Amino acid sequence: MARLNTPEALENFRQEVLSKRDPSKPCISICAGAGCIASGADNVIAAFKAEIEKQGLSAEVDTKGTGCPGFCERGPVVVIYPEEICYLQVTPEDVSEIVSQTIKEKKVVDRLLYEDPVTGEKAIHESDISFYKNQLRNVICNNIRIDSKSIDDYLAIDGYSALVKALTRMTDEQVLAEVKKSNLRGRGGAGFPAGSKWEGSRNAPEPIKYVIVNADEGDPGAFMDRALLEGNPHSILEGLIIGGYAIGSHEGYIYVRQEYPLAVENITLAIKQAEAYGLLGKNILGTGFDFTVKVHQGAGAFVCGESTALMTALEGRVGEPRPKYVRSNIKGLWERPSVLNNVETWANVPLIINKGADWFTQIGTEGSKGTKIFSLVGKITNTGLVEVPMGITLKDIIYKIGGGIPGGKKFKAVQTGGPSGGCIPEEMLDLKVGFDELTQAGSMMGSGGMIVMDEDTCMVDVARYFINFLTDESCGKCVPCREGLRQMHKILTNITMGKGKEGDIALLEALSETAIEASLCALGKSAPNPFLSTLRYFRDEYEAHIREKRCPALSCKALIAYYIDPDKCQACMICHRKCPAEAIDGAKNKIHVIDPEKCTNCGTCFEVCPPRFGAVKKISGEPVPSPIPEEERNISRKSKEK
Ligand SMILES: Cc1cc2nc3c(=O)[nH]c(=O)nc-3n(C[C@H](O)[C@H](O)[C@H](O)COP(=O)(O)O)c2cc1C
Ligand code: FES
Repeated sequence: MARLNTPEALENFRQEVLSKRDPSKPCISICAGAGCIASGADNVIAAFKAEIEKQGLSAEVDTKGTGCPGFCERGPVVVIYPEEICYLQVTPEDVSEIVSQTIKEKKVVDRLLYEDPVTGEKAIHESDISFYKNQLRNVICNNIRIDSKSIDDYLAIDGYSALVKALTRMTDEQVLAEVKKSNLRGRGGAGFPAGSKWEGSRNAPEPIKYVIVNADEGDPGAFMDRALLEGNPHSILEGLIIGGYAIGSHEGYIYVRQEYPLAVENITLAIKQAEAYGLLGKNILGTGFDFTVKVHQGAGAFVCGESTALMTALEGRVGEPRPKYVRSNIKGLWERPSVLNNVETWANVPLIINKGADWFTQIGTEGSKGTKIFSLVGKITNTGLVEVPMGITLKDIIYKIGGGIPGGKKFKAVQTGGPSGGCIPEEMLDLKVGFDELTQAGSMMGSGGMIVMDEDTCMVDVARYFINFLTDESCGKCVPCREGLRQMHKILTNITMGKGKEGDIALLEALSETAIEASLCALGKSAPNPFLSTLRYFRDEYEAHIREKRCPALSCKALIAYYIDPDKCQACMICHRKCPAEAIDGAKNKIHVIDPEKCTNCGTCFEVCPPRFGAVKKISGEPVPSPIPEEERNISRKSKEK
């Protein structure tokens, strides 16, 4: 492919690509994101290609591997265009039926459709599925429409038109003004206005400046950035080049964690393609603007997502945060002005340039504009990536999109903002999602993690879990973070083990205050959040653990006990057979009894006891009833006596 030397050449090429495409031609899009590949998508893609050939349909049907549309839990996901028929959990064995029925006969394969867990209704089209229906998918929507390895696919959906507009019809000041007007706030954590950050760099006197993509994404369970980088890498590149133009930078970096091999592969390929087409390099599209991009693979430390640690790592040094006496947009990478933005922030830029700041600001709340992608996981029926307008309530995300809590359980809390975010309780479910709203509630937007918890979740244990993660991930540079978090973890562990003491809560509060006040970076400053937010809304749970040695959620292993209710036991032998510790004494017709000396509190007996019997009881903070006397354990004698 020869370089496209002018904007007109790019436009002509785009028309050439489009002229070879027929929108009415059937296209089988199979998600080739990391989640679906893990569920066998590679074999499904191969099976479709073979079947299409076998049935002599190669000229009439297109097949493509695409990016992740977010419903990974139900993968491999297949969408058939132009009808948008969506099949979930497709296996190679389903392929021949799909081709024969849906492609040839235009009939739907019912068993592969999404079934609404509440109404039981089947959804044929992607847009009918409750998980998708209530989203506003401005950024992630193209993932399933394009082959993430094809620049031509990106061009066919108007890709790089925002770059052409910026380079040919807007001055660099105008691009900056548009981004400022959009009030786009960073999607990676702090929600800092992108336009102000860009302006600072642009106005800095140092002539060499950098633009950087933060694709470190270290939050456990979060994969928004991975999905975008894997699924639509050119959109990130386009945003980055536009950012470079706006601030006067000619060099960009993509910092991506090594554990994202497909994202690394796809963005590296996208850079090569963009270079070959003349969209990167010297004199882009003949406009005189030069811009190059390099990919840097991070070693996977959570702290390296922090801006100064990331830049230190990019410089080839150990990724530790450094003091921000001067902001990194003024003195960042190699002490030069550097704009660092999150993947999703960059992905919004082409949309803002193409559709305008006025379009962007129509969506969202006063302080938070546009959409946000969340990774919705935990005790929720539909898990996956959801893109929603800012201002949507937590309740709508959890119930309308997520389908509510499975197993008839009660909602307890939702944790937002990644490991150093906070837990929001049920009474605040009407909270509107936005940067400021979440912060006021004691949590934060973070990069978009959203973990739903049900009544079985112990909030003290949740705090212990996240503080443990942050203790491990602390770089160790400052004492309040390194030692303070370690102490917090120790105290929280003791509380969940039934060894909590009066005064522990006050001590945890004091350690939190010190970490917030005296840590160098936001890891230490925000690390106490999981403790502080759970204390704020679930103080009674802390007190029950410490004073009554009771876990109200019946979750902390050291504080619970199991016993078998003799009136309900049917001597069915199921728990006796399944107990891995051989702690259950019993026989056919002999009421079962748990030996507390052997029991490890694993809960297997509780799980396997048939619900119609409900004989195994889980308790906390109360004495275990005395075992039934040996002579009364015979079940036939007992029923006779009754
Ligand atoms: C410990 C820590 C980890 C972070 N990890 C990430 C990350 O993985 N990705 C990200 O975009 N921002 C992360 N951030 C936020 C960055 O420091 C920075 O604010 C962000 O990349 C700026 O981009 P934005 O303005 O577009 O959000 C992290 C911050 C801290 C304190
Ligand atoms: S990886 Fe396929 S839906 Fe997410």
